[in-house]
Amino acid sequence: MCGIFAAISDRPVAGVLVEGLKRLEYRGYDSAGVATIDDEGLRRVCAVGKVSALQQRVEAEPLPGCIGIAHTRWATHGAPSEVNSHPHMASGVAVVHNGIVENHGELRQRLERQGCRFLSETDSEVIPWLISCAVADGSGPARAVRSLGEHIEGSYAVAVMTENDRNVLHAKRHGSPLVAALGPRGGYLSSDISALAGLADEAVVLSDGDQVELRRDAISVFDKSGRPVLRARLPIDAVGEHFDKGGHPHYMLKEIHDQPAVARAIEARYDKSPFVAEQVALDFNQIDRIRLIACGTSYYACLVAKRWFAEVAGLSSDVELASEHRYAPVVADGQREAAILVSQSGETADTLASLEKLRGLRTPTIGIVNQQVSTLAREADFFLPLLAGAEIGVASTKAFTAQLLVLARLVAHAAEQRGQRAAARRLRAALGEAAKTIEAVLHNEAAIVAVAGILAKARSALFVGRGALYPLAMEGALKLKEISYIHAEGFAAGELKHGPIALVDADTPVVALAPSGDLFPKLASNVREIAARKGKIILLGDRKALLALSDVADASLTLPACDELLQPIIAAIPLQFLAYHVAVARGCDIDHPRNLAKSVTVE
Ligand code: F6R
Repeated sequence: MCGIFAAISDRPVAGVLVEGLKRLEYRGYDSAGVATIDDEGLRRVCAVGKVSALQQRVEAEPLPGCIGIAHTRWATHGAPSEVNSHPHMASGVAVVHNGIVENHGELRQRLERQGCRFLSETDSEVIPWLISCAVADGSGPARAVRSLGEHIEGSYAVAVMTENDRNVLHAKRHGSPLVAALGPRGGYLSSDISALAGLADEAVVLSDGDQVELRRDAISVFDKSGRPVLRARLPIDAVGEHFDKGGHPHYMLKEIHDQPAVARAIEARYDKSPFVAEQVALDFNQIDRIRLIACGTSYYACLVAKRWFAEVAGLSSDVELASEHRYAPVVADGQREAAILVSQSGETADTLASLEKLRGLRTPTIGIVNQQVSTLAREADFFLPLLAGAEIGVASTKAFTAQLLVLARLVAHAAEQRGQRAAARRLRAALGEAAKTIEAVLHNEAAIVAVAGILAKARSALFVGRGALYPLAMEGALKLKEISYIHAEGFAAGELKHGPIALVDADTPVVALAPSGDLFPKLASNVREIAARKGKIILLGDRKALLALSDVADASLTLPACDELLQPIIAAIPLQFLAYHVAVARGCDIDHPRNLAKSVTVE
């Protein structure tokens, strides 16, 4: 949420800053801004909306200067506007900020009493004022940046430059991600390592509390207590791997089509060696209960895993939304727990707060994360990578199926340890079919486009499923609402009659996840209850299931028959396609849905 990019070079940096912001745009696209320092001092250009709007402004009013900072904003405090855009400036100091200053009201009042004049409504503007006041009191810029920790409550990553010293960029992180890198043409700071592709070969990953002084030819990192420190360097992958849409019009569509390859990558890594055992040094025989924690789509993956843990490994589990778990009362019931935290980005603020809480409780933690350079990947006790590659579309697709595939591998490992060998074998065999079954669904895209036409006209839609497909009903509804803005809700099919069936009418399509299996007869009855109320039914199921309900279906999408354990993974694909094609039909901005951002680093 919010992207920071900064550069110091031997040539003007405005172009490279705007390019960097384009790569970080998934983090927020309410407004963008850039500031540089040239012979005449600080200059800033901002624009509301996407980075392309900023690019036009920068092309129209060129910004000289070989040192600069830039920002793409997801608005928290104050509407998207030029004045609320970063960089914020105060007496020769310019700052970009990612995070939230929770005590900004109090700081602002204090600074106003000292004569500081605020221009924006943002929490962030207190930061340049805090720094400029410290500098006015005699601190050097580095000390002034260090002193932010004494004033600010909340999370932040900041990049700072001052008119008085054009040879250094300062940065500090506390709870929000930041990496630094040196390339042949200078030094860079970025919220995300992938945005540095093509500029440098490796990046220094900062730890919480670290401060950086970045020069054209040197990176100096200092830990919380101000001691120089060496941090891990990680290779930066080539540009194409991250930003190529592979000939598709949107990242989301490309990422849907990436899924067979992701399934194969997971299969190759997780199946051919005792990979989970090597990564996770836990004995599942010594664990009474699993706690699964995540947000949004990742939370739905956890709900599916809960059923697998019970059915395959005989382990009970609780699934919690991180935003609730972090403040939930702790019950010391003597159960031995292990926690699994699932996240595409590894930077979701609520999930990281849960991690912190679990650490305090001494609960062992397993992070299942796509972004290997992330706080959750680094700080969980054990780490399982998703191997989905960069997911740029804001709506999660391939990361979700990767989460399911990796969670299933962990379940199979736990089952094996607990002596449930036959169940583990069955799950592994089903997973071995995942890539080609997903491929079969992808071939069905044309049929999905036709069905999307029905949903595209609706004002509201319902999704229903049972068992492990109930979370998929919620995921299907989330996908639809976030990118097409159609109101959608997912329900357990058996719950409809307890209230939601009141919503059913001829104008409200109901997507029913109805593949063959133990629960099919129950689901079929629920579908008939909907039909009896003139609901428009879109069925997703294998041939046998579709045939059994053909008399009530308004439209149907055929899923390949597969092991029931695999069904949630396979059902995800048509739901993603449906949301995508409905959003296309409605002319929505697929990769940048309104009000959203990819990496939710604020609470
Ligand atoms: C929806 C979506 C979000 C994320 C949620 C958690 O398509 O992407 O609901 O799943 O914000 O993000 P991560 O997985 O990065 O923790």
